Amino acid sequence: MSAVEAMATVKGGRVAVIGASGYGGLQTIRLLQGHPSLTVTFLGGERSAGKRWSSICSFLHLPDDPVVQSADADHIAEAADYVVLSLPNGLACQLAPELLQRGLRVVDLSADFRYRSLAQWSQVYIQEASCLSRDDSELCRSAVYGLPEWHGPAISDARLVAAPGCFPTASLMPLLPFLKQGLIETDGIIIDAKTGTSGGGRVPKEAMLLAEASESIAPYGVIGHRHTSEIEQMAQEVAGQDVRLQFTPHLVPMVRGLLSTVYARLRDPGLTAEDCTTVLDAVYRHHPCVSVLPVGTYPATKWTRHTNRALVSVQVDTRTGQMILMSAIDNLIKGQAGQGVQCLNLMHGLPPETGLPLHCFYP
Ligand SMILES: NC(=O)c1ccc[n+]([C@@H]2O[C@H](COP(=O)([O-])OP(=O)(O)OC[C@H]3O[C@@H](n4cnc5c(N)ncnc54)[C@H](OP(=O)(O)O)[C@@H]3O)[C@@H](O)[C@H]2O)c1
Repeated sequence: MSAVEAMATVKGGRVAVIGASGYGGLQTIRLLQGHPSLTVTFLGGERSAGKRWSSICSFLHLPDDPVVQSADADHIAEAADYVVLSLPNGLACQLAPELLQRGLRVVDLSADFRYRSLAQWSQVYIQEASCLSRDDSELCRSAVYGLPEWHGPAISDARLVAAPGCFPTASLMPLLPFLKQGLIETDGIIIDAKTGTSGGGRVPKEAMLLAEASESIAPYGVIGHRHTSEIEQMAQEVAGQDVRLQFTPHLVPMVRGLLSTVYARLRDPGLTAEDCTTVLDAVYRHHPCVSVLPVGTYPATKWTRHTNRALVSVQVDTRTGQMILMSAIDNLIKGQAGQGVQCLNLMHGLPPETGLPLHCFYP
C-alpha cells in the first residue's frame, strides 16, 4: 500500500490540505497531527507537487513521508471528506466548485468567498476572478462566514466556509457584542491594528525581509485596505444597519501575532469599563476560544502565540464616552489555520475547540 493509500484508509474525518507548504497549510497540518478525530490524508500544492514532504518541511515529520500532489479534484475526492484551501487569493474560486460537486466540504482560508459575490471580491481585491464566468453568486451566498463564535450553527451545516481574515477576526471579536446591542455609534469607529511579518505568507516579499521589517513600524494600506469592507460587511450584518469605519494596519517587527485596538463612541457615556466587560463576558462566557480579560489587563500578542485563543479587553474614557477595545490573537492560529480547524470541528459534529491549543504561554 502506498503512503497516499495508507493515509486515505484512516478512520474519522479525512482532510486534504491544499497549500500544504505555506504558513496556513503547515499550521493546519501541525494542529491536525494531534487531533482525535480528523486526519490529514492529502497534501496539495503547485511548486511543491511531486516532492516528498520531508524535502519541504524536514522539521514536521509525517508518517510514511507522503508526496505532495497537484490539486486535482478527482484525486482529492478519493482521499478526503474535507478540504482546507490555504492558497493565494483567486485560486479557491476556481477549485472549490469542483470539490463541492464531488461532495467534499470545503474550508477556504483565502478571501474568495467572504463577499456576497465574486464580482464584489474582484472589485475589492482589484484582481481578475478567472472564474467570474461561472454562476458564482449562489455559491457565494451559500458560503458561511467562518467566525465560529458568531456563526456556529451555520458552520456546522455548511458545505463551504469562508474563514475570515486575521485582522477582521481580531477586530470583530470585541466589537460585535456592542454593535449587536446597539451600545455604540455606528459611525466614527476607528481600528488601529498591528501584525507580524508572517501575515504576508511564506512566499518571499521584499517588505518582509529582515533588513526591511526589523527595527521599524510602518502603516500600510491606509484608507481602503481590503479588510475594511470585510469588517464592515460583518459589522453591518450584526448591527442591522450601515457601519462605516476607519481601519489602518501596521507591520511591526515580529514574526507572528496581531493586536487590534478599536475606538468607538458609547451611546450612553455613563457606561463604565466594568459594564462593558460584563457585555463581553455575557457573549463569550461559553466560548472557550475567547477570553475576556479583567478591567485594567490589556492583551499582549505574546500571550496568544501558538494558541487558538483570542484575548479581549475593554477600557472606557469616562471624560469623553470613548470606548477602547483591545484584542490579541496569533494571526496564524485563531487568525487563520486554528480558526479553520475550529470550523472543521463544527462541520464534523465536534466541540469547536477539539484538538486545538488554548493554553497561553509566557514569555
Ligand atoms: N498568513 C496569515 O496570517 C493569514 C491569515 C489569514 C488568512 N490568510 C490567507 O490564507 C491564505 C494562505 O496564506 P499563507 O500565508 O498560508 O500563504 P503562503 O504561505 O504563501 O502559502 C501559499 C500556498 O499556496 C500554494 N499554492 C500556490 N499556488 C498554488 C496552486 N496553483 N495550486 C496549489 N497550491 C498552490 C503554495 O504551494 P506551493 O509552494 O507548492 O506552490 C503554498 O503552499 C491566503 O489567501 C491568505 O490571504 C493568511
